[in-house]
Amino acid sequence: MNKQIILLPGDGIGKEIMESAKYVLNTVASEFGHRFTFHSHAIGGDAIDQYGTPLPDDTINACEQADAILLGAVGGKKWEALPGNIRPEQGLLGIRKKLGLFANLRPIQGFAPLLHASPLKEEVVNGSDILIIRELTGGLYFGKPSERIKNGKAVVDTLYYERSEMERIVEKAFESARLRRKHLTSVDKANVLESSRLWREVVNEKSKEYPDVTVEHMLVDAGAMKLITAPTQFDVIVTENLFGDILSDEASVLTGSLGMLPSASIRSDGVGLYEPVHGSAPDIAGKGIANPLGMILSAALMLRHSLQMEEEANEIEEAVRACLEQGYHTADLSVKNGKQVGTKEMTEAVVENITTKSVSDSICST
Ligand code: NAD
Ligand code: IPM
Ligand code: MN
Repeated sequence: MNKQIILLPGDGIGKEIMESAKYVLNTVASEFGHRFTFHSHAIGGDAIDQYGTPLPDDTINACEQADAILLGAVGGKKWEALPGNIRPEQGLLGIRKKLGLFANLRPIQGFAPLLHASPLKEEVVNGSDILIIRELTGGLYFGKPSERIKNGKAVVDTLYYERSEMERIVEKAFESARLRRKHLTSVDKANVLESSRLWREVVNEKSKEYPDVTVEHMLVDAGAMKLITAPTQFDVIVTENLFGDILSDEASVLTGSLGMLPSASIRSDGVGLYEPVHGSAPDIAGKGIANPLGMILSAALMLRHSLQMEEEANEIEEAVRACLEQGYHTADLSVKNGKQVGTKEMTEAVVENITTKSVSDSICST
């Protein structure tokens, strides 16, 4: 199959880990007889430097035509002083909104060799397997007004949601729970926020259509605590935009590093943008030590969700597992033994495991 994939490397380690994803995807393509054509476009700080805007029209047009999109990360100190509407982050928020990517799937699945790499006790982390479904195109991130008022002496951000925006994300969450362990935790702040009270209403209403899925409501403050004290009690978590942003970085602690987490930002027809959960990591950018696995696992999610290549996606995930079993790890993972390597070596280890597996499969089948 010939697929057109748009690459948006962005800033900082985004550029470094995008090279890893490309290498892994090219390897998968040659093992499975596909052709992936990559087109790189500017976004974030990189686009501000080149075109004076974080989201050029050319990037939007390319994304609209693509079979799938991969994004590295945006942001960095260089652009921090710019006004809110031309910051790098606006590029990312803009493309999510423009493409209508309302559902952000963030699987938090630990790998056995990394159990001890979490600062949490192994017996707490063991067996945790969570899917956070974060609403991605509404809430405080997009509500208007969002500005300084009263001559700069006050400020307003707006938490605005349409009921229909809640319904579609909650439905996605029930559908996902149905395919997993059939337990849905809806996280909100219904003891304070009107938006959360409507959210709860929507969840309760939708739950009538999914009698096979058990539903639990949880307030976000307690939820944040439970996530790292009793993570195995969760299956699918559904929550609004800002809560989902915060809880997913917190949940990454279960896996040993934020650098491990992939994500899929999708809409109902399967069009998607795939991006690691972490940012541009200015503190380690340019050093060649970034963990590429969150990005590589995002490429696997892209194959599964947008390109219907389940077997190929599994192959990448198995290769990642194999590398970790072989002891390969980057500096962000506090692994006791094994081989600490940089971004390139880690990527090569993944590629090596993909090609080795294909060779052994073909030997078995002859
Ligand atoms: P960050 O996620 O970039 O980094 C947080 C910490 O995690 C840092 O110590 C970093 O070194 C580490 N880390 C993150 N990814 C890693 C990886 N792959 N390998 C090893 N270590 C890794 O968050 P931040 O420092 O708060 O934000 C930096 C910039 O990134 C900001 O401009 C922010 O807006 C932006 N950001 C972008 C995205 C995105 O593009 N999707 C996501 C989050 C933050
Ligand atoms: C994420 C990031 C973004 C968000 C920022 C960079 C706009 O933190 O993807 O988690 O808050 O959505
Ligand atoms: Mn975030």
